[in-house]
Amino acid sequence: MNNKKEAIELNWRDYYNSRIVPPEEAVKAVQSGDRVVLGHASGEPRVVVEELVSRAGELRDVEIVHMVAMGKSLYCRREYSDSFRHNGLFIGASTKEAVAEGRADYTPCFFSEIPSLFREGVLGVDVAMIIVSPPDKDGYVSLGISVDYTLQAALSASTVIAEVNPQMPRTGGKSLLHVKDIDYFVLSVMPLYELSPSKIGEVENAIGDHIAGLIKDGDCLQLGIGAIPDAVLSFLKDKKDLGIHTEMISDGVMGLTEEGVINGMRKQLHPGKISLTFIMGSSKLYRWVDNNPLIEAYPVDYTNDPFVIAQNDNVVSINSAIAVDLLGQVASDTIGPRQFSGVGGQVDFVRGAARSRGGRSIIALPATAKKGSVSRIVVALERGQSVTTSRNDVDYVATEYGIAHLKGKTCSKRAQELINIAAPEFRGQLRRECRELYGWL
Ligand code: COA
Repeated sequence: MNNKKEAIELNWRDYYNSRIVPPEEAVKAVQSGDRVVLGHASGEPRVVVEELVSRAGELRDVEIVHMVAMGKSLYCRREYSDSFRHNGLFIGASTKEAVAEGRADYTPCFFSEIPSLFREGVLGVDVAMIIVSPPDKDGYVSLGISVDYTLQAALSASTVIAEVNPQMPRTGGKSLLHVKDIDYFVLSVMPLYELSPSKIGEVENAIGDHIAGLIKDGDCLQLGIGAIPDAVLSFLKDKKDLGIHTEMISDGVMGLTEEGVINGMRKQLHPGKISLTFIMGSSKLYRWVDNNPLIEAYPVDYTNDPFVIAQNDNVVSINSAIAVDLLGQVASDTIGPRQFSGVGGQVDFVRGAARSRGGRSIIALPATAKKGSVSRIVVALERGQSVTTSRNDVDYVATEYGIAHLKGKTCSKRAQELINIAAPEFRGQLRRECRELYGWL
């Protein structure tokens, strides 16, 4: 914040009105060499980011940091290489080419740790660009669907630029920021980024069906992003008293809550509430969470802290992966040596579930990739591929062929269980390779 004196002297309304500026004025706050952190996922601002990119000719070495990107990430374009360098805490469709070509970077980190990187200056924040709801009668705005690291980025930044958008819902929990903690306001009516519904096919349905068999009435769920978690939800309609303590929700949770299947009644921590750190889905979902007393959005260093997660009993975490080797090492963020996504909250929740009384963690993946030509159960990960969830942390692994329970099992039993859920056409080869490499089976 660079406006302390003015902020103290003016009442919040006068302060707010005096700080509403056009986008081209707001982005003048960014200087060459600055680190700029963007609001996460659907909390990514649209207008000011485009405006920043239009200053490419005047700027040099501006680092742009964020996790999931929903926009076009124009700052990653080759022609802007001297002006901007992206540092991804998660890689997505709009950034992976720049990372693969060495024009952008990836920084490995647990989602739960990102706020402390900002707070402690490991990644000092010069400018935070966020989206907020309009202020309430006391001058508080809500970060709504993206509290996660976005709140801490704003609190740590030297300058905060906020797009004020009436479509940003207000959420409960710890999503508020006072207008006096923000330097510039840019009014926007652009639609928030939406996540298109995932395509659920036969494979995802078979996996969802297997996993539903592991879920009991009263369990407290964390579901990742994508077709498999969505398929799992569609198999839970007959369950009772499910709870949600998760990093994100999408539209599937809305349906099960409206049907009374999710009610949080058996949660020990935040009973009766859906606890999360960000929301990504349709505009219908964003309207549903607005001022919804069930929804509590907290910073990610709270929701994803394994010791917080474990305060609920019977936590079940469900996340996806690229490949699993016969030791149970899970690769979820790289394909071979190529960075494909990020760790996100996978390990946070695997560890939280392990500490929860009655907890279980499930890694779910289709048995094959590339139209069935490649097995995702592999004898060993590829050269340069990184381990996301270690063999010491892994618990259940599910494919469309069934479920392997690895926790507490010897290496050779793990290999056998994993081969049993590989696609049948790869099982013989996996067994042979396993014998060659390890001498088991
Ligand atoms: N070899 C070669 N290619 C592979 C592969 C393998 N072993 N595994 C996957 N692929 C390819 C697929 O063919 C697909 O390619 P396409 O897009 O050309 O069809 C692509 O990689 C994506 O695979 P898919 O299984 O469809 O990915 P997804 O969208 O379901 O995402 C993860 C899966 C693992 C990438 C994703 O869940 C993730 O990033 N997880 C880590 C973070 C996390 O768990 N966060 C916690 C909750 S939000």
